[in-house]
Amino acid sequence: MASSPSCSNYCYNGNKSLLASVIVSVIVVTITISSGGVAIAEGGRVPFACDPKNGLTRTLRFCWTHVPIHVRVQDLIGRLTLAEKIRLVVNNAIAVPRLGIQGYEWWSEALHGVSNVGPGTKFGGPFPGATSFPQVITTAASFNQSLWLEIGRVVSDEARAMYNGGAAGLTFWSPNVNIFRDPRWGRGQETPGEDPTLAAKYAASYVQGLQGNGAGDRLKVAACCKHYTAYDLDNWNGIDRFHFNAKVSKQDLADTYDVPFKACVLEGKVASVMCSYNQVNGKPTCADPELLRSTIRGQWGLNGYIVSDCDSVGVYYDSQHYTRTPEEAAADAIKAGLDLDCGPFLAIHTDAAIRQGLISENDLNLALANLITVQMRLGMFDGEPSAQQYGNLGPRDVCTPAHQELALEAARQGIVLLENKGNALPLSPTRVRTVAVIGPNSDVTVTMIGNYAGVACGYTSPLQGISRYVKTVHQAGCRDVACGGNQLFGAAEIASRRTDATILVMGLDQSIEAETRDRVGLLLPGLQQELVSRVARAARGPVVLVIMSGGPVDVSFAKNDPKITAILWAGYPGQAGGTAIADVIFGRTNPGGRLPMTWYPESYLSKVPMTIMDMRPNPSTGYPGRTYRFYKGPVVYPFGHGLSYSRFSQTLVLAPKQVSVSFSTPLKAQTNSTWASSSIKVSHANCDALHMGFHVDVKNEGSMDGTHTLLIFSKPPINGNNNWSEDKKLVSFHKVLVPAGSKQRVSVGVHVCKHLSVVDEFGVRRIPMGDHELHIGDLKHSISVQTQD
Ligand SMILES: *[C@@H]1O[C@H](CO)[C@@H](O)[C@H](O)[C@H]1NC(C)=O
Ligand SMILES: *[C@@H]1O[C@H](CO)[C@@H](O)[C@H](O)[C@H]1NC(C)=O
Ligand SMILES: *[C@@H]1O[C@H](CO)[C@@H](O)[C@H](O)[C@H]1NC(C)=O
Repeated sequence: MASSPSCSNYCYNGNKSLLASVIVSVIVVTITISSGGVAIAEGGRVPFACDPKNGLTRTLRFCWTHVPIHVRVQDLIGRLTLAEKIRLVVNNAIAVPRLGIQGYEWWSEALHGVSNVGPGTKFGGPFPGATSFPQVITTAASFNQSLWLEIGRVVSDEARAMYNGGAAGLTFWSPNVNIFRDPRWGRGQETPGEDPTLAAKYAASYVQGLQGNGAGDRLKVAACCKHYTAYDLDNWNGIDRFHFNAKVSKQDLADTYDVPFKACVLEGKVASVMCSYNQVNGKPTCADPELLRSTIRGQWGLNGYIVSDCDSVGVYYDSQHYTRTPEEAAADAIKAGLDLDCGPFLAIHTDAAIRQGLISENDLNLALANLITVQMRLGMFDGEPSAQQYGNLGPRDVCTPAHQELALEAARQGIVLLENKGNALPLSPTRVRTVAVIGPNSDVTVTMIGNYAGVACGYTSPLQGISRYVKTVHQAGCRDVACGGNQLFGAAEIASRRTDATILVMGLDQSIEAETRDRVGLLLPGLQQELVSRVARAARGPVVLVIMSGGPVDVSFAKNDPKITAILWAGYPGQAGGTAIADVIFGRTNPGGRLPMTWYPESYLSKVPMTIMDMRPNPSTGYPGRTYRFYKGPVVYPFGHGLSYSRFSQTLVLAPKQVSVSFSTPLKAQTNSTWASSSIKVSHANCDALHMGFHVDVKNEGSMDGTHTLLIFSKPPINGNNNWSEDKKLVSFHKVLVPAGSKQRVSVGVHVCKHLSVVDEFGVRRIPMGDHELHIGDLKHSISVQTQD
């Protein structure tokens, strides 16, 4: 987290004008006064608006709950003055006391638990903490959609409870669904990984969990998918996100960067999207009507509001010098379709922009309508919170045993067993009586919750978790993850020589990878590698290496060291991480997590400047491409990798071999391009009839119950015109629990338009004709796709 309280986490350190900071403090003061100090009252918060105790309420139509929301919204907008409107399109919206409306702070966060990043949420008093789930990259590794939904449901219970107690808002700017494009990205930990299909499913499930399935379009809390779009560089090699122009092809935008956002809006029905700091093809995303107005609102039909990243309107004026005047910058944002500014810029410059005729008051009304509609869907204009749905949630609904158990379960499901030489794991707690627990992450707490976290209910560190099974000898080995010296190595070696087994908990923390901090390399920092090798050489028993990190780590040295018998990736496993790690090591949990991103070797970095957004390789420059979909070089561990203590076999029992595509538009009328002969546009196909069902039997050949994740990939046909450059892509995944020795049948749906289509260089989705391949583990199956005459 940043040190300055006024700009908190998304801290923009550019040259802010003095005027801006003066106005910020004015706004803050206004809110404090108008909301009567902190809005915590005995037994709950003061109603945000339409307080039944206020006689005014009965006369205000926007307070009448039986009137349709769009009518109430227009009624309220009709009563506001221009000056009031201008102060309502910023995150710290002013109070309008003459209409009985309190101030509202729009900025709260709940990436993996209610977070204290953002001024809208405050821990303390009756809310000392909230359940801190594993960081998203870890939860993504579970490949379990019902888990993601359930976490969202629990987080929004706690969020509503904190809102009711006046400790949080109802608008949470989570999740972060940018594609984890480059392994160095400091914020990759916040995301569900590198694959668009996985990220899309995660986004839709978590958002649905958070927002609830209210009657009509009622919202439990309002989620926000961010940062739209192609934002995944923070600060690398002298280039930062405030100045970066991401050059993105139409093809990569459509089949990679936009995919999770589209799913957020269409499947998740998210109530908000945030535009990013960076430019895309020369335009700041928050000033691009093509991205905001045409794509998010037009094509996808967002029912909600579009918010800027914090200070990003200011950033494109001050540091990108995108417009000549600040009024133009304000006008561009509103014209592009921005509804809310996180930051003071619109509060300061909108009035002059209107006076100069760059935008009209009506443009502002459209933005306000989007904002107030969301507040009304949240019930904020329905009077007493305690009288509403979720109104009974309070402090006793936060950090409940069930919620904390789910945080533990999520960590167990997310841990990935990378290596298990000679089935060294699980360790038997009866045969292994003493364990040396070594490493800079072996007794950590806050490291386990990663960034965009809150205050956890409590922690179980790895050392504490392991100590519940066996007697432990603890040696840090390195003072911190930077591991600048070897002074503590000797004691660590002695510990591992004297014990029955050794567990090294190594890896990264926020000092290595974070917001505004991209990594410079993929190896373990400092002398960590040397510590691991020396301890392994000294060890008497099996050596287990646990990596705690958000991004991938090149652990080739350990993979190749016969003395290191097992490697686990724990990600940032959340408040109960230590219990989960121990449960996996001692076999109480059979690991089933899979890597949501490729683990590249260090050498990969020299060929890929972080600034090149291209997903596809470029043979003429030697650029190798990105992610398992396009990169074909050596890897340390591939996307989807993850072992179990059981062995699973898969058999295809029902598998259609061909499918005919019929057209909704006659073939002759279709566009004339190089693709015409070998593929057809999805928009021209009769997609409804193109669904195929497959059955796969999964058998657990081992002696332990376990979960297996079926990853279904498709591979388009190769032909003369092929320029998809896509090898294979994930089309769906199915996680099943299979008891030892038994068999489960899994139904897999493959939809031709959705799953077998590819995107051409114009960003148009097409179905290539010919033989497509489905890959399910080692199974390969060919499907012939033909046109119907
Ligand atoms: C298709 O495009 C080619 C090259 O642009 C052109 O010569 C040809 O006439 C076009 N055919 C049709 C049917 O439009
Ligand atoms: C997915 O997660 C849910 C919630 O924790 C759990 O009940 C379910 O068993 C998990 N599914 C599998 C196959 O492990
Ligand atoms: C593939 O498409 C790119 C443009 O996206 C183009 O530059 C390249 O020449 C094409 N390659 C082939 C083999 O057609």
